[in-house]
Parts: sequence; structure tokens; C-alpha cells
Amino acid sequence: MISKLKNNVIVAPMAGVTDKAFREIALQFGAGLVFTEMISAKGLYYGDKKTKLYFDIDVAAGPVCAQLFGHEPNIIAQTAGCAAKYGAVCLDINSGCPTPKIIKNGDGAALMKDPEVFGQVLDSAVKNAGIPVSVKIRAGWDKYNINAVQLAKIAQQCGVCMITVHGRTAVDYYRGKADWDIIKKVVNSVHIPVIGNGDILTAQDADKMLNITGCAAVMLGRATLGNPWLIKDTVLQFEGKEHIFQPNTAERIKQALYHTRLIIKYKGEYKGIRESRKHVHWYLKGIKGNSNINNLISTAQSYAEMEQYLMQLL
Ligand SMILES: Cc1cc2nc3c(=O)[nH]c(=O)nc-3n(C[C@H](O)[C@H](O)[C@H](O)COP(=O)(O)O)c2cc1C
Repeated sequence: MISKLKNNVIVAPMAGVTDKAFREIALQFGAGLVFTEMISAKGLYYGDKKTKLYFDIDVAAGPVCAQLFGHEPNIIAQTAGCAAKYGAVCLDINSGCPTPKIIKNGDGAALMKDPEVFGQVLDSAVKNAGIPVSVKIRAGWDKYNINAVQLAKIAQQCGVCMITVHGRTAVDYYRGKADWDIIKKVVNSVHIPVIGNGDILTAQDADKMLNITGCAAVMLGRATLGNPWLIKDTVLQFEGKEHIFQPNTAERIKQALYHTRLIIKYKGEYKGIRESRKHVHWYLKGIKGNSNINNLISTAQSYAEMEQYLMQLL
């Protein structure tokens, strides 16, 4: 799977973030693969219209991996084919989400607590997806139950094509530091490609992730929010062409407005402008004297208003 991509810089699945517009931008900035937000297998199974919207994939923009969450092998069997049907090149199973509303149903990171069900879900996905299947796990449930190596071996046995390891436990949530050592242990215990994830903030960090863990690819998460330039930095870093993009205020505003236009294009102005506010805040992070503008952005009702507020920063 990874060998077929143009590079090994991958952008993480992030619920509420990695929609069609975000993915389009990540691909424009050179990502080798992007992920959808996590999609409920159960929602698909019951024909929920909103759930289906997450599969809005533009095949021409570049390769997308669609991520499903669920824990019932029969429901995964019935829904795994959706990824290919809507144009994804790969289906990923979420086995790392620690959010209470997800784990209370036995989904996401809860799968790590039950390796048997974990295996059944993956087996079902592999048999029914019609495209390569990957899985995204964490180090384990908590520090007393670090079982990423065991889970990776099960995944490999099920025929999974690659494994992403986020070096935190479910109980860690997003606190503390990601443990890259567990990623290395997984790399050394399976022969399928491992994607290293957690705390890559710069292109240099990405290089370190490859060197320290021996992983086949890196997955960039939170550091790409309002900062797609990191993707390009990392691609260039891996090509041995060190070049750090330091976009100035005007470039950041231009990109924020472009991102806003894309969201509006796909979701309409009412929904789009509301969803774009958080992205615009991320683009402006670190720009001095923007607190007043930030307050205004939170109230923007239209693209014209958003543009007017941002222009005040120039
Ligand atoms: C807002 C947000 C939403 C996320 N949603 C998902 C998701 O839908 N599926 C998933 O597997 N991981 C999800 N994650 C976890 C990220 O994919 C990634 O594993 C995590 O942020 C660690 O990487 P980082 O340190 O580079 O951010 C989410 C993270 C954030 C911050």
C-alpha cells in the first residue's frame, strides 16, 4: 500500500477536521495519503443520510483512506464495501478513539481491550472491503495494558496491509508525550508497514520518527491544523531538500480564505462559514494583535464578513 503512494507523508484522520476541503488542501500540499474523519459503521448500516455524507471523496484530488468505527463483525461486513464504492483506496478500522461516547459502545479504543473481537472485526473488514484494509491503534488501553505488539500481530494475521500506531494509551487521551518506543517495538514485530504517529510537530520530528522507530511512514495530526505548510516541509525533508516554509501573515490569511471558500463550496455558506471559524483561528495562531479579530471571526456570518475581518490584520 505505502509503496504505491507518491510519498510516505500521511495526514491523520481527525473528526470534525479532515473533511473534503481539508483533505483537498493536504493533498495540494503534497500528502501521500489522507484520511476521512471516522465514520460510524452502524450509521451506514442503518442508512443514516448524514453518515453517508462523510464519504464525499474526490477521487481525482488524490488517495483517500476511509476510516470506519464499529465493533460488530457482521455490521463491518455489511459496510466495509462502502469505502471502495465511494472511491477510497484503503479502508481503515479505528481502534484508537478514546472518546467516552465511542468507547462506551465497545468501538474505537475499546477494541484494544478485547483482542478477540479486534481480530474478528479486522477479519470481517479484510474479507469484505475489496480494497486494502489498515488499522489505527494506540499503545494500549492504559500503562498497565500495553498490547500494541499483540494487536499488531493479530492484525497482520488477519491480512491487514498496514498499521498506524499512536504512541499514547487510550487513558492518556492526548495528554503527556507519545511513546515512540512502542512504535519501534511494533515495527520490529511485524513485517507489514507501520505508520508512526504522535507528537510530530516539525519536519525534523518526522525525520526523527522514521529514524528512531524504523516506521515506513509518518502520520501528521494536530500540527497540520492551520499549518498545511508542515506537509510540504516534511515531504521536502524526506527528499533531502531541507526547506522550512514560514508563511507570513498575508500568506496565512490568503490560505485561510481559500480554505473557507472550499468549505463553503462543499457545505454551503451557512454551515461552511461556521465550520471554517475554527480553521481560521488555527491559521492565525501566533499572529500578534489578533485577539480582537479572533473575537470577530467567531461571529462571522458570511464569507464577505470573514474576509473583511481578516483584511484588518493586513
Ligand atoms: C480533533 C481530533 C480529532 C481526531 N479524530 C480522529 C479520528 O476520527 N480517528 C482517529 O483514528 N484518530 C483521530 N484523532 C487522533 C489523530 O488521528 C492522531 O492519532 C492524534 O492526534 C495524535 O497525533 P498528533 O500528536 O500528530 O496530533 C483525532 C485527533 C484530534 C486532535
